[in-house]
Amino acid sequence: MHNCNKITHGQLLLLLLAIFVMASPVVAAENLLINPGFEQGTTGWTGRGCTFSTSTIRRSGRYSGYATNRTAYWQGIKQSMLDKMMPGETYTISAWIRLENAASDSIIATFEQRDDRGVKYIRVDASTGYANQWTRLSGQFTLNVVGALTALFVYFEGPALGVNFYLDDVEVVGERPPEVPGASATAPYPAHKSIPEDANSAIPFSWSPGDGAVLHDVYLGTNQIAVENADTLDTTGVYRGTQDVNSYMPPEVFEFVKTYYWRVDEVQTDLATMYKGRVWSFTIGPEPPHLKDLAAYHQIWIGSEVSSSQLVERPYQDTLKREFNLLTPGNDMKWGPIHPQRNQYNFGPPDAIVDFAESNGMDVHGHTLIWHNQNPDWLTDNNFTRTEMIDILRDHIHTVVGRYAGRIAVWDVVNEVVESNGLRETLWKNTIGPEYIDMAFQFAHEADPNAILIINDFSIEPVNSKSTTLCNLVRDLQGRDVPIHGVGFQMHLRLERALDYQSFANNMRRFADLGLEIYITEMDVRIKEPVTDADLTTQATIYGKVLGKCLEESACVGFQTWGFTDKYSWIPSHAEGYNDALIFDRSYIPKPAYYSLREELFLNIPPDPTSPHVEAFETGDFSSFDWESFGDTDWFVTSGECNSGTYGAGASSIDDNGSTTLKLTLDCISGEISFYYKVSSEQHYDYLRFYIDGTQQDEWSGNEDWTQVSFPVRAGRRTFEWTYSKDESSSDGSDTAWIDDIMFPID
Ligand code: XIL
Repeated sequence: MHNCNKITHGQLLLLLLAIFVMASPVVAAENLLINPGFEQGTTGWTGRGCTFSTSTIRRSGRYSGYATNRTAYWQGIKQSMLDKMMPGETYTISAWIRLENAASDSIIATFEQRDDRGVKYIRVDASTGYANQWTRLSGQFTLNVVGALTALFVYFEGPALGVNFYLDDVEVVGERPPEVPGASATAPYPAHKSIPEDANSAIPFSWSPGDGAVLHDVYLGTNQIAVENADTLDTTGVYRGTQDVNSYMPPEVFEFVKTYYWRVDEVQTDLATMYKGRVWSFTIGPEPPHLKDLAAYHQIWIGSEVSSSQLVERPYQDTLKREFNLLTPGNDMKWGPIHPQRNQYNFGPPDAIVDFAESNGMDVHGHTLIWHNQNPDWLTDNNFTRTEMIDILRDHIHTVVGRYAGRIAVWDVVNEVVESNGLRETLWKNTIGPEYIDMAFQFAHEADPNAILIINDFSIEPVNSKSTTLCNLVRDLQGRDVPIHGVGFQMHLRLERALDYQSFANNMRRFADLGLEIYITEMDVRIKEPVTDADLTTQATIYGKVLGKCLEESACVGFQTWGFTDKYSWIPSHAEGYNDALIFDRSYIPKPAYYSLREELFLNIPPDPTSPHVEAFETGDFSSFDWESFGDTDWFVTSGECNSGTYGAGASSIDDNGSTTLKLTLDCISGEISFYYKVSSEQHYDYLRFYIDGTQQDEWSGNEDWTQVSFPVRAGRRTFEWTYSKDESSSDGSDTAWIDDIMFPID
């Protein structure tokens, strides 16, 4: 499957170590408010139904906030907290209020929250305020969101109409995790979590005492931690629990353990041995790998569509930086947005994306130079002649591609130009003729000779009439020496309409056979509302399968989704009744689809051919170990078939009732041997059999693509044999078996 130049495991572990070392230690929680003491005037704050200004009657600094002209008790001063607070997290709010023209009246701190449930007003604290005196409000607020969070304000209100008040020294902070030496927070957000309900057996924690704590048997109860022998418990102790997350990751690749700290908060008096606590999550050691870390193993791009207007949002940016190594502007480079008037280009938004990508080590996929949608009126409504249209096209492509030459790795030169039985009727085809496609590629190549130029379309994933039309078009373009390097499969799927994965794989192969690179450019999987948990699981499977097929196809070098958070997917506004098509939810929490992509990247990591435990035949011969081959013909090392890298070992052309064996004896430690095999025999006359110390472990026949198997091995000197035999006579002499990427349990 894969190309040969992979990053080695050693390099990846170094990378992860670097991430770990760079992770900053836990610091005191920061105030999330802008201008919390009104020292920058009115910045960040607004009046809520009344007049808002600043005053020099202040509690600290030089100014306070000042609410006047109030015509109802709920009027006051507010600040938006949207995108500053994380769902599920608890925040502490504190503020000081002083009345002006009433001896005393009520003062209240409130959150206004709008999500799929509608609007809610959540009171944080209420008290009595006084003239000539500052009174403190303080309380906690946990952000619980249903669906999409569209508005979130903290505001201060309460006194009767006509009463003016001052506000100063406001704080909104996330909870502070306990100080744990040497620990680094896993998340960019406050890192504590409540113990999940019913966690009793779900999480295989093993607890040990942390600094200053005494050892106890600790186990998880329902939403609390139970401690036996609690009479001797030091309730202020910090306990450490580890969760082994290697169970779903091959331990030879990643060894990391999630470590949780539990701090006893509250003693349950009615239950002498039960304590309520809170679990604070930290990772000691490398973080779990993110998509782009794993993509490096496969040397593929993993990317997302982005919009310059969303790039300003903090969690949006953070997620992009963490997960992806490629970005595609969703709209900002389309003709309408980037070239709104004949003599005017709008490079601000696309520049912002390219700059962001570059400063974060990501590449850019340009979208798109020709499309039949989102074109400016000046282009579509002017009845330009053929010659004028060619000039306009040349100018546009030279200007846009030229501006980003060397900075955009891949261009969607033409987008959606075919239909099932020929070229789509578009402005370009109707004015210039079908050769507009040749020209577009030619112009793009002139402007940036190093850019990869591709043709992008939808509903061309399996072998079907549309993909066949596209295939024929590509062949024609190549026949005319048009510089085309790849094909983009948009991959806009819907949950209820299954993709034929085998046909998708075959389709990729036929484009690859033309010498093209394959890109999955716009994947999303829309779900009919209402969306259930089962739907999200099915969606995860679909994402995983598509990525898996891409990883198996060496020509598939890019996998991108059309956006990454359901907050900004194009689906709800373009496909009525559908939603939740992406891999992160509206609050940037990874969905099952995310984990499925990660797992796919994990499981397909080819073994490190330079490891002394691995035989991947990458020397091109049998020289790495003391192999013996005997029988009717010899086993051979070939570059014609391999699971990864360049070479695999194979056996074929055996005589009737004959066989050939590949054999190796090694001193083993207790463990398992694993390898990949592939068999290709038309009829079930030919068998690949695997033996340990002369005992057959399994046999394979027929047609099977590369498959990994493993078998337990006991410590000691062991003999491994792979035998390929023809059990009966058969006229079909081209049957072959291959093996590759063998991992031996040796020291
Ligand atoms: C979509 C954008 O995501 C929307 O914001 C816009 O309103 C319409 O276009 N195939 C493509 C993309 O090639 O350019 C489209 O993007 C989605 C379908």
